[in-house]
Amino acid sequence: MRIPFICANWKMYKTVDEAVKYVKEFRPRARELDGVEIVLAPPFTALHAAAEAARNSNVGIGAQDLYWEREGAYTGEVSGPMIREAGAEYVIVGHSERRTLFGETDDTVNRKIAAAFAAGLCPIACIGETLDQRERQETFDVLDRQIKRGLDGLTSEQIAQLVIAYEPVWAIGTGRNATPAQAAEAHGHIRKRLQHWFGRDSAELCHVIYGGSVKPDNASDLMAQPDVDGALVGGASLDVRSFVEIVARSRQAALARRAAGRPGGAV
Ligand code: PGA
Repeated sequence: MRIPFICANWKMYKTVDEAVKYVKEFRPRARELDGVEIVLAPPFTALHAAAEAARNSNVGIGAQDLYWEREGAYTGEVSGPMIREAGAEYVIVGHSERRTLFGETDDTVNRKIAAAFAAGLCPIACIGETLDQRERQETFDVLDRQIKRGLDGLTSEQIAQLVIAYEPVWAIGTGRNATPAQAAEAHGHIRKRLQHWFGRDSAELCHVIYGGSVKPDNASDLMAQPDVDGALVGGASLDVRSFVEIVARSRQAALARRAAGRPGGAV
């Protein structure tokens, strides 16, 4: 059974002080939102303090990237075991900003996902097409390539634990979200590919969440779609009230979907 999974991606925002203040304000609100897996992903510098502030709550902490070696002469990099030791349990991998600004490829994403699992972290693997690719009708080809190469070598058990974030690049930080129908189509496609390549059981357990301009206003419609299991939220997660609203509305939509007995969705 997939319970809704909502992750805040703070990107390069929030100091240690700001992160701790946010977590303290957020955790009592999150307590009321049971049945949802909630993760906050601060910058590396705030990971430990945020994890301490979130201790014994239903709020998980995630990093925004990792390097695949355990340790060594890799100036500027941070490893999975270091992130785990800082108190995080999740890590975002292959975000489109990392791919376009920092040269990440499906191959580096693949190594990072394996390293995350090896360190006991749950990877949140990002995939998604650019506007050009969508206009050239290449969306499914791009997703297939990213899944095939990015997840190459993973076991069915790992797929069952994995979170995939479908984030159309043209929707990130633009205020232009995918329509619920576009999200449903892409998520359905991803689920089918997972079934085909990794087996039905693990594909059913893998969370496929949507990201790209998720806001309180559109969260319910997106979450009402089959195969949309949650959200990766950037800009709208920086404000506690707005993020609480997104989690609450997503939870409501998932509950309504379960009550309606609609198959294929997060419950
Ligand atoms: P956004 O970012 O919600 O600001 O569009 C989402 C993301 O980049 O994960």
